Amino acid sequence: MIKKCLFPVAGYGTRFLPATKAMPKEMLPIVNKPLVQYGVEEAIEAGLVDIGLITGRGKRAIVDHFDVNYELEHQISGTSKEESLASIRNVMQKASFSITRQVEMRGLGDAILNGKRLVGDEPFGVVLSDDLCLPGEEGEGVMAQMVKLFKQFRCSIVAIQEVPDELIHKFGVIQGEQIKDGLYQVTDMVEKPKLEDAPSNLAIIGRYILTPDIFDIIENTPPGKNGEVQLTDALLTQAKNGCVLAYKFKGRRFDCGSVEGFVEATNFVYENIYKG
Ligand code: G1P
Repeated sequence: MIKKCLFPVAGYGTRFLPATKAMPKEMLPIVNKPLVQYGVEEAIEAGLVDIGLITGRGKRAIVDHFDVNYELEHQISGTSKEESLASIRNVMQKASFSITRQVEMRGLGDAILNGKRLVGDEPFGVVLSDDLCLPGEEGEGVMAQMVKLFKQFRCSIVAIQEVPDELIHKFGVIQGEQIKDGLYQVTDMVEKPKLEDAPSNLAIIGRYILTPDIFDIIENTPPGKNGEVQLTDALLTQAKNGCVLAYKFKGRRFDCGSVEGFVEATNFVYENIYKG
């Protein structure tokens, strides 16, 4: 079944400057855990334990985070502080990490293409860790919900959410035919449309399951919005040639790529998870 999950983490994080001048945005903490770790934990919960980090220059801290820090661990060994490493030790025990570097920032589609060798000929997950997704009431993470759907339908799946008009231009937006409650077969997709061009208010959130034919499609996808190779454009080709599903996930999503979403997530996690 699906074991691999790509994390494109090469982006600059300019909205958080100067905090992200020397530190990757994915390492910004939501309370006491870096954003990227939340995403990796969500993937592991879904059984995606082979993690592929698509990194870039200045992102070493992410790779170090998922490695042992002998000096620190030796220092706090046997003390009460050791407990605070429990979650990251758990992640390192369950998952393995492969690293590849995106040399040029040419868009999300290009970032995913960099994972081609890591993934091979298998379906795989993609997590954009800027989107922090917390489980719905049933307690199941978004990737786990999507893996279940994949087992049933065997085609690429994107997570979607209804967004208000004023935010639509920030997302890939789908049009689809509802095949059951909360599940659509995609008929159209537009990357970051103007409101008047948006085919619906259903926006793509940073969780995907992709079938490996997407790589060849991306290779043949010309640069689109903002001159970047867009995953949304490649997915539209896949939808037209076969099937792509869009899934209105159960859970809560925070846009941690924006300062407002980041603060909202911090408050939520502090009140509901950290304080317990
Ligand atoms: C990317 C995708 C976009 C999607 C969004 C979700 O955009 O290109 O289709 O809606 O992630 O967060 P980005 O926010 O990386 O510019």
